This record gives sequence, C-alpha cells and structure tokens, in this order.
Amino acid sequence: MSDERKRTFAVAVTGASGAIYATRTIAALLARGCHLELIFTDFGKRLLHDEIGPEASADRLFDFLAARYGEAVRAGSYAVFSNRDLGAPLASGSHGCEAMVVVPCSMKTLAGVAHGLSRSLVERGADVMLKERRPLVLVPRETPMSLPQLRNMVLCAEAGAIVMPAMPAFYQGPRSLDDLADFMAGKILAALGLPHDLYPPWKG
Ligand SMILES: Cc1cc2nc3c(=O)[nH]c(=O)nc-3n(C[C@H](O)[C@H](O)[C@H](O)COP(=O)(O)O)c2cc1C
Repeated sequence: MSDERKRTFAVAVTGASGAIYATRTIAALLARGCHLELIFTDFGKRLLHDEIGPEASADRLFDFLAARYGEAVRAGSYAVFSNRDLGAPLASGSHGCEAMVVVPCSMKTLAGVAHGLSRSLVERGADVMLKERRPLVLVPRETPMSLPQLRNMVLCAEAGAIVMPAMPAFYQGPRSLDDLADFMAGKILAALGLPHDLYPPWKG
C-alpha cells in the first residue's frame, strides 16, 4: 500500500546476473521506511527464480525479504507494476517518484535507456528520470563488454545517469556473498543520498 509521506523510489530488476544485488537493495530501502515501485522484466523474474529460488517471486517478496534480511523490511511498503504497463504512474514526469534504480541492469535494458526508446515501463521510467533531471542509478553487469555496450554506458552517463557497474570491492574484507551484495546495495543507497551501514567506511 502506498504512503505519500514515505520517500518513493522506483526499483527495476532486469535479466542480468546478480539477483542478490536487487534483493539486498530492495530490503535496505524498505528497512529505511521507503515506498518502492517495483518492476520486474520477464528475465528479471527468471533471474530471481534461477539465482535465488521460487521463494523470491514478486508475489511473495515481503515474506522472503523478511526471512532473509530481517523483519525491519516491514517498515517500508511496495507496489509491483507490470513492465508492459506504460500507463503506470512512473511513466509520467508528473508522478512524484524521486529516483530510480535499475539493479541489475542488462545490456539490453542499458541499450534501451541509452537510446531513449521507452518501449517498456522500465525504459520509460528511466527516460522520465533523465528528462526530469532526477537521479537514475544503473547497475549494469556483463563481462567482457562490447564496444556498443561501453558506448551505451557513456551515453547514459552523458544523459545524467549514475552508471554503477556491479563491481563489489574487496578492501572491506567480505566473507560471504551477502557481504558483496551489501557493498553494492550500500553504494546504491549512497547514490540516492540515503545513510546506511551496509559496509564500513574506508578509514585509510
Ligand atoms: C541465466 C541468465 C543470465 C544472464 N546474465 C546476463 C548478464 O549478466 N548481463 C546481461 O546483460 N544479460 C544477461 N542475460 C541476458 C538477458 O537476460 C537478456 O538479454 C534479456 O533479453 C534481458 O531482458 P531485460 O533487460 O528485459 O530483462 C542473462 C540471461 C540469462 C537467462
């Protein structure tokens, strides 16, 4: 259920490897009491299923996140929108969603955003963020990258997006996959201007 007093962010999950980055980011935003507008592409749903399991499906997300990351996630709220619904609130600049994250971001969706195609709600929402000069955080994952993929990242950065490849660091001494996901989620929250304790700050 939406709550207008809550800070509202859009989070899109597309079909690049790294579903754990998405679940950790969504859980961290919910635990901070945010309202989320969630969009899962068809391949985003498949990645959640294949990399995490059927328990991570969109219709059972709250229970999965609470079990995995703690009951604090219930401080937030979310609504799920179809990627085919180009009439959803996020498709309009008049809607008060303050920023959008695409995590993980496939090369296909990256290309669509880079070229302003707006063929789906994910692409249109990203386009709205860019035209309204609101934060758009893209978390692409692919390796190696082709020249068109590299150029698409540059196009997105030139248009104002924050391009944040899924490249967790190791200087904080990660011991688990969750530690690596925490690092990426922390970077995303920092880009949105949200305080977090997902990784210890570097002290030199
Ligand atoms: C198991 C699996 C892993 C994939 N990993 C990646 C990836 O890491 N990066 C990427 O750009 N595409 C990856 N793909 C391909 C995308 O899912 C595919 O291009 C899809 O059309 C993306 O559509 P979407 O952006 O609408 O989710 C993967 C596909 C599968 C099935």
